[in-house]
Amino acid sequence: MVKSIEWKNDRIRILDQRKLPLDVSYIDCDNYKKVIDCITNLSIRGAPAIGIAAAMGLALAAQDIHSSDYGGFTKQLRNIGVEMTESRPTAVNIEWAVKRIMTLIEKNRDLSLDFLKKLIIKEAQAILEEDIVINRTIGEWGASFVKDGDRILTHCNAGSLATGGCGTATAVIRAAVAQGKKIEVIADETRPVLQGARLTTWELMEDNISVTLIPDNTAGFLMKRGEIDLCIVGTDRTVRNGDVANKIGTYSVAVLAKENNVPFYVAAPMSSIDFGISSGDDIPIEERAGEEVTTICGSYRIAPEGVKVRNIAFDVTPAAYISAIITEKGAFSPLDIHRLEDCEREPENFRISSYER
Ligand code: MRU
Repeated sequence: MVKSIEWKNDRIRILDQRKLPLDVSYIDCDNYKKVIDCITNLSIRGAPAIGIAAAMGLALAAQDIHSSDYGGFTKQLRNIGVEMTESRPTAVNIEWAVKRIMTLIEKNRDLSLDFLKKLIIKEAQAILEEDIVINRTIGEWGASFVKDGDRILTHCNAGSLATGGCGTATAVIRAAVAQGKKIEVIADETRPVLQGARLTTWELMEDNISVTLIPDNTAGFLMKRGEIDLCIVGTDRTVRNGDVANKIGTYSVAVLAKENNVPFYVAAPMSSIDFGISSGDDIPIEERAGEEVTTICGSYRIAPEGVKVRNIAFDVTPAAYISAIITEKGAFSPLDIHRLEDCEREPENFRISSYER
């Protein structure tokens, strides 16, 4: 399986997703500014992957801070953490990763700065390693919702390219395939950046998983004709009331799914759940440059010069449209998601084990 990001020889190696599927090439980052560039220009994208990139970016930044006192060191690193968080505001994973590194520093304030810097590298690597396991666990929980012969619609890319491991939504698909179920994936092309057309199809085909690409506006018609059995998407930020922010167009898919009685699942690592926000209305939504809409991948203009554009990168699907949210702790009703905040308690009394269809 393809690796979206790696820590290698004290550098960060990022697979340049802007060039896929035509070219498989990598960017080596030796300073945090380059990492921020990769996050904002979508060389690396997908909520868990940019969380990992932010943690590794902070680890790089820490090595370059020459302050000799703890206070000066943390102040500089905290400011860089803010820069990271602002680089893409919707995915909570960046914030989550920055908090995790800052908490580690706080807890180990008695150690020497040289030792602390090594510890930060280890923590960033641990975030990647943990994500690989979390992806697999989401896949195992989610596979019970998939039947042999299912045709599964997915939107955007919640795959290995968007995470450290086998993806979130695609982890469920991969686990179902590994169980011997015959699956057909239907990939929405996902205008305007075409994560579905360029990335999801590519990574699934690399793994010999059968996939059919459709224009975004085809999904409703296929659902109406009974040609989609379920939908699975990822999330950039899921909040206390079970509302889910994900790639623009996800909400439309969810409404169409409800209208056509097609179950709609969200695969969400705990790192994408923001217990600090109570409603989807309060999720910060990123708007991006109009050029992504007026051109195909920046190179071919498809709209008149000077046209007004809105390029809203994410939307929010209300909890009422979601059949279950699949996390590494199990699958839950979106209405129960807030109950996961207490991580100490095993959530078995409100876990959903399968879904009647
Ligand atoms: O703009 P992108 O490509 O970063 O958007 C990514 C998505 O919307 C994914 O579905 C989401 O991050 C979940 S990835 C497991």
